[in-house]
Amino acid sequence: MRLRILIAALAAFSGAAHSADLLSQQCVACHAITKPSSTSLERLWDRKGPDLYYAGNKFNKPWLVNWLQNPTTIRAAGVMYAKAVKPSADKSADVVDAAQLPAHPKLSAADAATAADLLMALKVDGLVTAGAFKGEPGGSMAPMLFSKLRGCTSCHAAKPGDKPTSAPEMYSAGDRLQPDFVHAYVTNPQKFDPHTWMPTLGLNEADLQKLTAYISTLREKK
Ligand code: HEC
Ligand code: HEC
Repeated sequence: MRLRILIAALAAFSGAAHSADLLSQQCVACHAITKPSSTSLERLWDRKGPDLYYAGNKFNKPWLVNWLQNPTTIRAAGVMYAKAVKPSADKSADVVDAAQLPAHPKLSAADAATAADLLMALKVDGLVTAGAFKGEPGGSMAPMLFSKLRGCTSCHAAKPGDKPTSAPEMYSAGDRLQPDFVHAYVTNPQKFDPHTWMPTLGLNEADLQKLTAYISTLREKK
């Protein structure tokens, strides 16, 4: 009887230790899970994966649980675009160098659930304002704002197969990203990283609301 209690206690203990260590054991080689002390350009250049220290302000949890089990490409040319492209055979354009883009580690369902819980707990005060997105529909001009008028599609793909590869694809953003994060990021990308190369576009509040509404409706059709 005592032995059984001891075994149960030990199993519970090792389970807890495993969950607390999952991110620091399997993820920190490529991802910052605490705010980096250096925000230099070199840090940005050398990082192997996107920052996750504000994951709880950024992602929708169901998306995390799914994606961690079946990771798909989000940045067609990697986290640091310039590193993962090479000149095409005739040197007329840059093409993605797939050898620079190893497949993402795949987690079991149990580990994905644990990792998603741990990631959702990573939050930073003052980065994202809860309720900044008012939840109004974007209206018929919103897709035009995204594609033509505000130039987002020079870097972001709005549907699978679109050309731009230098920035995260947007066609799964409705599942992937919290609307308040989208609003905060588009308002001021440099607040998230002073050297990130998405420009601050100086959009007015009405455009920010419409763009956030539009992006939040984009869902990957399976
Ligand atoms: C070998 C490096 C490497 C390891 C180890 C790694 N990742 Fe990643 N991770 C990446 C890269 C690179 C991307 C970007 C993929 C893309 O955009 O297509 C990424 C993307 C992500 C994303 C999506 C981020 C975003 O902003 O879209 C999440 C969430 C994530 N990883 C979680 C994890 C977790 C949890 C672990 C540990 C269990 C882990 N990763 C281990 C390299 C890694
Ligand atoms: C010059 C290229 C460029 C333009 C133009 C641009 N972006 Fe970005 N955007 C980026 C890059 C690069 C990132 C990722 C930065 C990073 O991870 O450090 C990004 C990130 C984002 C993110 C966060 C996504 C994520 O997964 O982290 C959102 C949302 C976003 N952009 C929306 C927009 C919108 C809306 C517009 C138009 C108003 C726009 N962007 C215009 C390059 C661009």
